Amino acid sequence: MKPFVEDSIERYAHDLTQSFGALHDELREYTLAHVPIPQMQVGRVEGRLLKMLASLCGARRILEVGTYTGYSSLCMAEALPEDGEIITCDHDETVAKIARSFFDRSSHGHKIRIKLGDGLETVRALDASPFDMAFLDADKSRYPLYYDEIIPRLRPGGLLVIDNVLWSGEVLDPKTDDARGIVEVGRRVHADPRVENLLITVRDGVLLARKLP
Ligand SMILES: C[S@@+](CC[C@H](N)C(=O)[O-])C[C@H]1O[C@@H](n2cnc3c(N)ncnc32)[C@H](O)[C@@H]1O
Repeated sequence: MKPFVEDSIERYAHDLTQSFGALHDELREYTLAHVPIPQMQVGRVEGRLLKMLASLCGARRILEVGTYTGYSSLCMAEALPEDGEIITCDHDETVAKIARSFFDRSSHGHKIRIKLGDGLETVRALDASPFDMAFLDADKSRYPLYYDEIIPRLRPGGLLVIDNVLWSGEVLDPKTDDARGIVEVGRRVHADPRVENLLITVRDGVLLARKLP
């Protein structure tokens, strides 16, 4: 990923952002050492942002698309009450197994349920119980389809967070299906009267869409 902010400034922001503790650090190191494309992990700053957003919207139920090795799930789980729930989906059994092994060691792991399979099919098969928050971080070319499925499943006032909406700057001149999916979801959110929205330039870009009450 091309950095938008100088490495030294990213480091400063990272160091002045509260750590999540030893298990998160171990998961980060394990992923870096053993799993392909470790930069997919959201990391401390975006992880803190997700946790804070979950706390601020009083989340009890969260939907996540894109578990990978479980870092973002663990961050958001910390904001949930004891009986809260994250449903997170991924189609890669290998990363899901790593995620599960770390969830099992976390005091918040019991709140996280992994659904293995295609993310869009998983979301479409969910029952009608509303979510307070959703984090979309997989399958970029189909972001618009996920958007159409997720907004009706959010409670009024609920928050959708979409990751990588700058796609290292390719959104300005999209050449791939992933970039085109990201651009299309940005347009769709911006034109949607059901939500208020904000694109923040944290990391690779994070789009917030809050469903209007
Ligand atoms: C960017 S990573 C998620 C990173 C994670 N949120 C974190 O912070 O550690 C994207 C994940 O989405 C998964 N994925 C990609 N396409 C998918 C699809 N169609 N259905 C389900 N999962 C998918 C990949 O296997 C990968 O683990």
